[in-house]
Amino acid sequence: MIAHAPLPAFEFVDKVSDKAGKVPVIVAVPVARPAKDGDAAVAGPLAETLAALDLTALGASESAGSVRVTATGAAPATVALVGGICPEASADEFRDAAANVAREVDGTGARLVLALGIETAEQASAAALGALLGAYRFDRYRTDTRPAIDSIAVLVPARLLKSASAASQRVRILATNTWRARDLVNTAPNDLTPAEFAAYAIKAAKLPRVKTTSLDLEALKAGGFGGHVAVGQGSINPPHLVKVAYKPSKAKGHVALVGKGITFDSGGLSIKPAKSMETMKSDMAGAATVLATVIAAAELSLPIAVTGWLCLAENMPSGSATRPSDVITIHGGTTVEVLNTDAEGRLVLADGLSAAREEKPDVLLDIATLTGAQLVALGPEIGAVMGSEDVRSEVIAAGDAAGEDLWPMPLPAHLRPSLKSPVADIANMGDRFGGMLVAGLFLKEFVGSTPWAHLDVAGPAYNERAPHGIAPTGGTGFGLSTLLTFLETRAS
Ligand code: BES
Ligand code: MN
Ligand code: ZN
Repeated sequence: MIAHAPLPAFEFVDKVSDKAGKVPVIVAVPVARPAKDGDAAVAGPLAETLAALDLTALGASESAGSVRVTATGAAPATVALVGGICPEASADEFRDAAANVAREVDGTGARLVLALGIETAEQASAAALGALLGAYRFDRYRTDTRPAIDSIAVLVPARLLKSASAASQRVRILATNTWRARDLVNTAPNDLTPAEFAAYAIKAAKLPRVKTTSLDLEALKAGGFGGHVAVGQGSINPPHLVKVAYKPSKAKGHVALVGKGITFDSGGLSIKPAKSMETMKSDMAGAATVLATVIAAAELSLPIAVTGWLCLAENMPSGSATRPSDVITIHGGTTVEVLNTDAEGRLVLADGLSAAREEKPDVLLDIATLTGAQLVALGPEIGAVMGSEDVRSEVIAAGDAAGEDLWPMPLPAHLRPSLKSPVADIANMGDRFGGMLVAGLFLKEFVGSTPWAHLDVAGPAYNERAPHGIAPTGGTGFGLSTLLTFLETRAS
């Protein structure tokens, strides 16, 4: 079973108090410019706060948004941490710097006080979110534990205290659900099978106005969900299709979200090289993000109906696995020739999109770690958006507001013929060049006339490198902030 570590306690404050000198107070101070000598660089208003606490600035970071601990664990309230935020930094830079600070002091059991020279309410909530996301860690499998950050306070000017605190419920809900999505991605695939994921979703989404139902293998066969059946049949862990429906009493429309939930992608009989398989526990990141988004929408009581579809299966090779050249039937009747069993995400998503569309939502979004080509095209930190032009723009605008990098990609008609099959309605693999777009064109076949966008997040959903900004190593929760902002914009 999945259990989550609790978030640190969090508050906005307009004064820094030395809480009895029991725990170290760690303060981050902005510098007006990159500096080596922190003493000289401490910005004006904070110099007062520091003086009042008898703190001394001990150093500064060399670049904006990064921090360097110059002294910790000294006598209480004499610890200074100097961060390098320029006063003109964007909200996202405040967010990332706060995350870096939080990570820097993680393991000390500290009460973290962030004094970043915040001037606007937007910067305040960005810093709060960054600190909470930076404080994330995944300890489930560790026997050597270190103390987590005890509590976080963000120092804001008195005039911002009220507006900042009003926004803190959203910050907390967004952070909690980002932690949730990260935990799901980071959980080992022997612990997060499709059945475990489905059971977790039912439990986690027990909220007012949310109804969760799960189709097991038998129900999937009976319902004609041939994509799920085909992808799951090589595994001893059978597939599930989970529907999480949030329905407020007064809804301004209905959004359907479909997530790819391959709990492990070996490639199936079209097996992956060993190296490519190492990160494939993350192939359920789309489903994790969808679940986290529906829960967040319900917790915020957004006045918009949201239905999440989690397409869960494990893609394994075995004597019962789908063969290249097998023909399967997707929910709704379209037949697919499976030429490559490693193009499995589009098969479960086809089932999910077809089922979601039957309910006639106003708009349909899917999110998936769908193609290696996405990583090749946009690198590890930027997601791709394809689909109807207006929905695509709406998603990218939501991403801009949410501080997530998304880039528009086309669905060129000239690539569509490459998906033609000599025996079935469509093949699951086409041209290798433009593979991300070909995958998008395949999905397009299953959305009919419903306004739709497809997010390929193969790169940003999972960070294989060192932590940076809000992204820890491993699952990032990428997409949640964008999807939530998309819903809020529609609901407003
Ligand atoms: N899950 C992978 C895509 C992926 C690759 C995600 C790397 C994250 C990092 C997907 O199921 C896959 O294997 N796609 C194939 C499709 C191909 C066989 C048409 C790919 O991208 O190679
Ligand atoms: Mn695959
Ligand atoms: Zn996959």
